[in-house]
Amino acid sequence: MTDGVGRQVNYLRISVTDRCNERCVYCLPPDFTAWKPREDILTYEEILEVARVAAKLGVRHFRITGGEPLVRRDLVPFLADLAQIDGVESLSITTNATLLAPLAEPLRQAGVGRLNVSLDSLDPQAYQQMTGGKLADALDGLDAAKEAGFTNIKLNTVLIRGRNEDQLLPLAEFAAEHDFALRFIELMPVSLTEMLDESNFLPLGEAKQRLEQDDELLPLASGAPAGNGPAAYYRLRKRGTIIGLIGAMTNLHFCDQCNKMRLTCEGQLRPCLGNHLETDLKPVLRPSVDPAALEQLIRHHHLLKPSEHIFRDNYQPDRVMTAIGG
Ligand code: 5AD
Ligand code: SF4
Repeated sequence: MTDGVGRQVNYLRISVTDRCNERCVYCLPPDFTAWKPREDILTYEEILEVARVAAKLGVRHFRITGGEPLVRRDLVPFLADLAQIDGVESLSITTNATLLAPLAEPLRQAGVGRLNVSLDSLDPQAYQQMTGGKLADALDGLDAAKEAGFTNIKLNTVLIRGRNEDQLLPLAEFAAEHDFALRFIELMPVSLTEMLDESNFLPLGEAKQRLEQDDELLPLASGAPAGNGPAAYYRLRKRGTIIGLIGAMTNLHFCDQCNKMRLTCEGQLRPCLGNHLETDLKPVLRPSVDPAALEQLIRHHHLLKPSEHIFRDNYQPDRVMTAIGG
């Protein structure tokens, strides 16, 4: 599928739940309880129907997100079914890893190829303050993932002024030691939490300068290492770490290569994280699936993909991030 401005759309990011066992300050308000009622969440079978049609239309890469995908029951057999669909070339998960330890091996067996793990700080107290969770649990999850044979693990670090700006080099060293790639992400106004304002924003340019105080960032050819995202990749000369920079706010070409669509946990197809546009798939999924109509909607939908996000235009999010799928 090619969108209206010539980008090939071959990547679908699926949120399987809006729930999460953590409370990252940039993602959920601390006292958030407005979870979607269970009956509004797509069943695994409904998600598989969407994935089958998407794969038929040329989508090759699937990523499972939440919320925290590992909080949803029976995720593993669902993933095994998804991995078996004709045309699916890669299946990956974005997780905070705190529940990963016992699941790493089964996930690998089910056919999950790659993991992206959110890790905002290596300081237990700062980690707790930023996510509400326990650093040790995330580290256990990462260990288990390595043990299970996952390679190509990427760490995602959301930059927040005053919270983790001291963590850039420690995280780079940790990543090098474990052979993880490390991606720094600019804070985006994608959720309904109060802290998504200018005062907490740490631009990537500044993060780069910090890294360059003690190392050198050597640009890697675009797209390397094999990724489907909009990150620009570098290698830290001394430490060897692969560093990805995801600058939705300051990189004006951020959307040029975007190949992605999202499926929210309640069945809205969303062509862009930073745009309110959505197509409701529920009417063609319930009470029973209409594959022809589903195909029609997906085909039509990808043409609606905007050429770029509107985060810089005083974008006002209307949902929490967990419902959309990070
Ligand atoms: N800004 C930037 N990244 C965010 N994420 C969640 N909320 C935000 C935000 N406001 C990212 C986290 C997590 C992924 C699921 O989404 O990095 O790893
Ligand atoms: Fe949970 Fe991920 Fe949101 Fe953090 S960013 S609260 S781990 S869904």
